[in-house]
Amino acid sequence: MSSEPISRPRPRSAWPGRLTGLAFGGDYNPEQWPEQLWPEDIALMRQAGVTMATLGVFSWACLETSEGVYDFGWFDRAVELLHAAGIALCLATPTASPPPWFSHQYPESLPVTAEGVTLGLGSREAFCPSSPAYRAAALRITGELAARYGSHPGLTLWHVNNEYGAHVQACYCEVSAEAFRVWLRRRYAGLGALNDAWGTAFWSQRYQEWEHITPPRASPMPVNPAQQLDWKRFSAEQHLECFRAERDLLRSVTPEVPITTNFMTTACPNIDYWRWADEVDVVSNDHYLTGEQQDNQIGLAMSADLTRSLARGRPWMLMEHSTGAVNWQPRNIAKLPGEMRRNSLSHVARGSDSVMFFQWRASRSGAEKFHSAMLPHGGTQTRKWHEVAELGTDIAALSALQGSTVNADVAIVWDWESAWALELEYRPSVDVRFLEQMSSYYGAFWRSGVTVDFVSPDADLSPYKLVVLPTLYLASAQTGQNLTSYVEGGGHLLVSFFSGIVDEHDAVHPGGYPGALRNVLGLWVDEFHPLAHAEGIVLDDGSEASVWSEAVLPEGAEVIRRFATGPDAGEPALTRHRLGQGLAWYVATKPDPDSLRALLSTVAEAAGVAQSGSPDRVEIVRRWAVDASYVFVINHEARPTTVPFGGTDLLTGQEHVGSTTVAPGEVVVLRQPV
Ligand code: GAL
Repeated sequence: MSSEPISRPRPRSAWPGRLTGLAFGGDYNPEQWPEQLWPEDIALMRQAGVTMATLGVFSWACLETSEGVYDFGWFDRAVELLHAAGIALCLATPTASPPPWFSHQYPESLPVTAEGVTLGLGSREAFCPSSPAYRAAALRITGELAARYGSHPGLTLWHVNNEYGAHVQACYCEVSAEAFRVWLRRRYAGLGALNDAWGTAFWSQRYQEWEHITPPRASPMPVNPAQQLDWKRFSAEQHLECFRAERDLLRSVTPEVPITTNFMTTACPNIDYWRWADEVDVVSNDHYLTGEQQDNQIGLAMSADLTRSLARGRPWMLMEHSTGAVNWQPRNIAKLPGEMRRNSLSHVARGSDSVMFFQWRASRSGAEKFHSAMLPHGGTQTRKWHEVAELGTDIAALSALQGSTVNADVAIVWDWESAWALELEYRPSVDVRFLEQMSSYYGAFWRSGVTVDFVSPDADLSPYKLVVLPTLYLASAQTGQNLTSYVEGGGHLLVSFFSGIVDEHDAVHPGGYPGALRNVLGLWVDEFHPLAHAEGIVLDDGSEASVWSEAVLPEGAEVIRRFATGPDAGEPALTRHRLGQGLAWYVATKPDPDSLRALLSTVAEAAGVAQSGSPDRVEIVRRWAVDASYVFVINHEARPTTVPFGGTDLLTGQEHVGSTTVAPGEVVVLRQPV
């Protein structure tokens, strides 16, 4: 099998040179409005402190009215109005939504589902990423934009497409099937190697001809899991090829203009963003709160920290979030007064050098008309408008933060391939969910005031005091070696159940569980004992757990806690293995939130990781610059909080000496000289 290493060239450091301070603004869709209204838009943008606008994300049908026939006049005028007002241009290639004329002319470019249904028009993102007709048309409009606006003095950033893979993860058409076979031929030395890797001796699946291999279409029983994993890799790669083609074309015309595409780091499970992160000049992210979720600021923080980690610690851009409610959740909960500000400043605290929204002016028509915007339907008399304008003032006051970074002592391993494999059919328990595992560990650290980075399993772990694997079901032997070296060198590692089990083809590692992690953890697992729905168990220190139990047999690890109840009562539940200079902990169940927090606190303390003693819902994060650090204190509590340090609050100019009291729902950003 030919291996496909993630190429990790040193990323181009390309913060848009035309931006000073933090960027503030959003998607601007002037084509949805009469042109007489545009001057008012621009005047209000200035009033709100907007410094950057994203233009053209879904403008293809208005820019290319039939094949090769362009109408750039209106776009020219919008560009000039923005530029004359000193608003930087983030120009999007409109390739996320091909126009109706295109889909009619090239019906084979429409995406097909696993069930064989061709998706229709009248929506957006109706394209097959492998379609030669789509790819050619996307490059043509991209080339036209580059030629026309490439030398425009306002052009600050290229924004390619929109949220690749978010809505059509994979296309199952015949063109895609053929592209899949080509991709497989490159990946495997021959059909024999593919048959071995996929384990096709099972269920009479052995292939004699490449042409017989298909996408994992709707089928009577679960499709071969190795085939499904390769299909997911292939499909994500098809989107990446589309991105690369547009990016390379733009680069050839405007080598000095940075290029991004907006990720959805925690919300698009189909894309392995580790493979994408170094392909962009600037990492950017879209994040939308789950309105009905309690303490949804924690999910926001996780998305922001993951984005910073993809940017390898460098500043990144929040490309989209919402001023209030979205329109696509079952109940679209509006943000309370102050919530949009806390959300925005949490992203900045965690390394974003921009606060951008979808969108500038709320649409009158179309599917998103009840989505909040910077300028609501009610105009400048609305509460939202005033909050947006105040936020513009805050963001301007934070300009000194541009380029400053965030440090973390703890890293959580996040791996999309493992998530894909974990969530295929026929696992020991449907209750082991990737995002839930990540969120529970991340949330426990958040509540203890510990800032974390995320890392890929094969990353250099040496900068961290503690590395945590909430569940890494798929782990290669190389990953096992990386974790072993980290611990031997003095690192502290915490691994949770159902980790290290299979290789990259979803084949169980020889010798049983936990396969690739057996040596580093100093134990083996005789059998999994997943629990019944809602069944709870207790450990011998009284901590409570659910979902999972298993028979752990130490092979060098010492037993710290035992199960007190459940199928493994009396047997190890928490172990600790000394290896070289370091420690490897293993937890064989899913502790409830309080028990997990206590466990992580013990593990963090052993690793020498500082934990803030602040109340549960007070978020404290520090950004570092050369001459100062900036401490964000975001009070999500309904009562005031006092932190035991001072500094100059950039948002108010107020000096705090020795301690700082933050009112309910308020935020301070304290500058402390270093
Ligand atoms: C994003 C998308 C925007 C808008 C928004 C609504 O995913 O990029 O165009 O649709 O969702 O929340």
